[in-house]
Order: sequence, then C-alpha cells, then structure tokens
Amino acid sequence: MELAKQTKESVFGKKVWFRGIIEFSNICHNNCYYCGIRSDNTEKESFIMSHDEILSCVDFIHSANYGSVVFQSGEIKSESFKDFLLTTVESTHRKYPKLGITISCGEFDRDFLKNLKLAGANRYLLRIETSNNDLYQKLHPNEMLWDDRYACLKNLQQLDYQVGTGIMIGLPGQTLDDLFHDLKFFVDNQFDMFGVGLYVTHQNTPIGSDPAVVTWWNNNKEKHFNRLLNFLSILRILLPTVNIAATTSCDVFHPSGRMMVLNSSGNIIMPVVTPQKYRHHYLLYDGKPCMDETKEICYDCTIAKLKKAGLEPALGEHGTSPFYIKKNT
Ligand code: 5AD
Repeated sequence: MELAKQTKESVFGKKVWFRGIIEFSNICHNNCYYCGIRSDNTEKESFIMSHDEILSCVDFIHSANYGSVVFQSGEIKSESFKDFLLTTVESTHRKYPKLGITISCGEFDRDFLKNLKLAGANRYLLRIETSNNDLYQKLHPNEMLWDDRYACLKNLQQLDYQVGTGIMIGLPGQTLDDLFHDLKFFVDNQFDMFGVGLYVTHQNTPIGSDPAVVTWWNNNKEKHFNRLLNFLSILRILLPTVNIAATTSCDVFHPSGRMMVLNSSGNIIMPVVTPQKYRHHYLLYDGKPCMDETKEICYDCTIAKLKKAGLEPALGEHGTSPFYIKKNT
C-alpha cells in the first residue's frame, strides 16, 4: 500500500478530484440477484426525480465547485427514459459547459450512447461486476449477458468516452484467481477509471436474504475490506495514471474506509448530492452510508475528512484521467 501511495502521489500529489453524484431514479428493469433496486424488490418505493429537481442538484454541484457531475440510476430501457436522460444532459451542458458529465445508467445501444456524447456527456461508468463470465451468470438472470456488458464497454471506448468500470469484491463464489483475472482484464482493456466496491448484503435480494450468506458475509467482511485495499493498491501500481474512486461501500466496513483508499491508491471522491428525501429509496445494499445527510452536510463532511487526512480537495477541476489524455495524444 505504501508503494501504491508513492505511485499515486508521483502523478496526482495529494489532490483528490470530486464528482457530485445524483442518484436520480431507482427504477430498474434488471433483476440482479445482489442489488437492492432490482425490479423484483417489491418493498422498494420507486422514484424518478423531475427535470427541475435534477437541475437544482446540478446548480449545487456548480456552486460547490465540484467540477464534475455523475448522473446515476437503475437501468430503464424505454424510449421515454432515453429522451429524459438526453434532455437532462443537454440542459446541464448548455447551462454549465465546463462541468464534466458522467453517466452511470447501465447498458444502452451504441446510437443512443453516441447521442448522449453529442449532447455533452464525456464519461461513462459501467461496472463489469466480475470479469468471470460464469460467476457473472450466477449473479444475474439469464437475459443479462456478460458479453453484452463487455460489448457496451467497447462501444463506449470506440465513441471516445472516458470509460470507467469496476467490480465488487467479496461476492459469494468469488476466488482470488477471479480477482487476478479482474486486474488483468482492467489492464488489457485500457480503461481510464475504476470504481471498485465491496459486495454488501441487501435483505430483499435472493443472495442477501440467504442466512448462510449473511453469516458468511459478516464473518468475512474485514478480510474483504483488506482485500479491496490490496486490490486497489496493485491496480494503482499497474496503472499509475488512471482515476480510482473511493466508493461509498468502503465506509460500510470502516467509517474512514474511503479515506483509507484515498490515502493509498485512490484519487477520486464522489459526494452524494441526491436530495435527502430520496436517499433511503436508493438502497443498493443494507447500511449504505450518508442516508440521513443532506448534500450540504456531505460537502462539509467530505472536505473536513480530506483535510484531516492531509489530502487536498481539488475543487473546480474537471479531473480527466491522465491515462485517457495520454492514450488520445
Ligand atoms: N453491494 C455492493 N454494491 C452493489 N451494487 C449493486 N448492488 C450492490 C450490493 N449489494 C453496485 C454494482 C453496480 C453499482 C451501481 O452498485 O456494482 O454496478
């Protein structure tokens, strides 16, 4: 971890870039066996923020000087949702042309991804979840194919997006060999940014409601957290110039989990900007942090934690990964 820290600081110094994340809808047509916003979770209260609500969060991101916004939602395949997303991106880009715009709304066809890019989106986050095709099929229903997800990542790269992917660490059935292949997959495919999190159980999911999994998860969470720190450290050493986010799930195991990532491999933080009233409905996993906070509190808390950790909040910066810049020059 010390070598990862040195490697990161040789590229980024103490700087941490910001992405304000707006989780604007929990409606999802997918049914991933681990995810709390899966379509079959009948306990979920569905929501989609209005255009005005989203834009007022974007105004906050601009005034907080985060430099970059992430629009995240469940995966909705309808044409009306595509229009809604496109309009949101267009309005954001028109109002704040300098703001980085990342989309994290699942898989789309190439034409739509192209239109989003033309509308002003410049980054896309789509986790592969695991590079092991067999494990992927065990975690997803038959209609969700690893090959489709991979094809979408390749389309994004061909369209010149800055492409981020990632996995969950501590998935039931995941081996160390899988993690080794995940690292190899990341390097071989030349991604620009990474969001790697811990798998955390959710009580209304097929996997997370299994008592044997819950016991196993509790008994192994410390091991998995250490595995995550080590995994990201190796990733940083392998790819010194990529962006690595400290994801929210890191704080589930340890209240300073994200800071521990930023003190070793990570250089990106994603403060939650979702309005407080929607946060409890965007519950990907149990015990998700920052549920009762407002966007203002998340701002103060993030800045204070970074400063306490001796890190430099790089406000106002777009934060494009040097890896992407180098690849394109
Ligand atoms: N634990 C941790 N992360 C999860 N995600 C979904 N469900 C869970 C869970 N139970 C992650 C997936 C997805 C991202 C938006 O949230 O990796 O890509």
